[in-house]
Amino acid sequence: MKKFMIGTAATVLILTIVFSIQQGLLFSTTLPYDDEQTGLDTQITIHLSHVVAENTPKGQAATKFAELVEQKTNGQVKVHVYPNASLYNDENEFKALQDGKVEMIIPTYSKMTSYVPDWQVLDLPYLFHTDDEVHEVLTGPIGEQLLDELQPFNVKGLGFWHNGFKQLTAEQPIHTFEDLQGLRIRTMPSKTLEKQFSLAGATPVPISFSEVFTDLETHAIDAQENTASNIYSKGFYKVQKNMTVTNHGILGYSVLMNEKFWEQLSPKIQKQLMEAMKETTEWQFKQAVLLNADDLRKLQQEDDFVIYTMTDKERQRWQEQLAPVYDFYRANVKQPHLLADIQQIIAP
Ligand code: LMR
Repeated sequence: MKKFMIGTAATVLILTIVFSIQQGLLFSTTLPYDDEQTGLDTQITIHLSHVVAENTPKGQAATKFAELVEQKTNGQVKVHVYPNASLYNDENEFKALQDGKVEMIIPTYSKMTSYVPDWQVLDLPYLFHTDDEVHEVLTGPIGEQLLDELQPFNVKGLGFWHNGFKQLTAEQPIHTFEDLQGLRIRTMPSKTLEKQFSLAGATPVPISFSEVFTDLETHAIDAQENTASNIYSKGFYKVQKNMTVTNHGILGYSVLMNEKFWEQLSPKIQKQLMEAMKETTEWQFKQAVLLNADDLRKLQQEDDFVIYTMTDKERQRWQEQLAPVYDFYRANVKQPHLLADIQQIIAP
């Protein structure tokens, strides 16, 4: 009996020691005080608002950015993404950003042209011919120069993301420039975009993205321009009968942060955010091309939706007929040299 009692006590003692070591209660060395850990009790949250679906070039980029930020800051910074205009829409997102009601938004650069008119250079028809040209310009010194113009608006431009080339959808087939005559065509609020359609005798109608589907469905407008991924993800093919592959312009995004919020971040976190931004940008320029090609294929499979691809000759004629938009642009901006700088890069 005595032996049993001693054996049991020894077993209990050994198990207690093993459990204590496992739980770090014994032999635990006190971790060196790491002042970086102080950040963990100051969780930083970024609310990011945008107006498109999640499975789009912008939606996927926002998700990727949020993942990379959490990874690179070891969870100290969390990005909450609000897609589909669920937090703010085209009309109110920029003011919400300036007022600090949201920390990040990703507006199309066309929608920023009323604040930074020089950005209209990106709306010029047939200026860019490939996605690589867009990447080269927007991720280089010209992109930086365009972002610097945001200074007066309490906004920090983190960079540009890509969607793709715009196409046209309409009730009736659009093969020639003249086919646009008399149509009410939805555009984003950009003087250059409106000019390109008024040149063709159409009526440009600037409307918020979240209202386009309903206005097409109720025939308040007849046509609209957008990328294949937006046409597919927003279901425009359900309320339009025709699409013309024109590749007449590009659509992309400025990634904006409230400047006061940016300035109160530590240099370390600013560096981690910019690393996440750079990695996301490189990834998403490629992903946007794949997604638009994939969505164009899906559109081609839709019944009652006829897709016409312009011939090179037809596209050449549109380019010639849209040339006066360039004169309009030069007369309406402070730095018309930006156009020559871009042309120097993409068509040396
Ligand atoms: C549009 O308004 O058509 C686009 O800006 C939507 C978007 O953000 O891609």
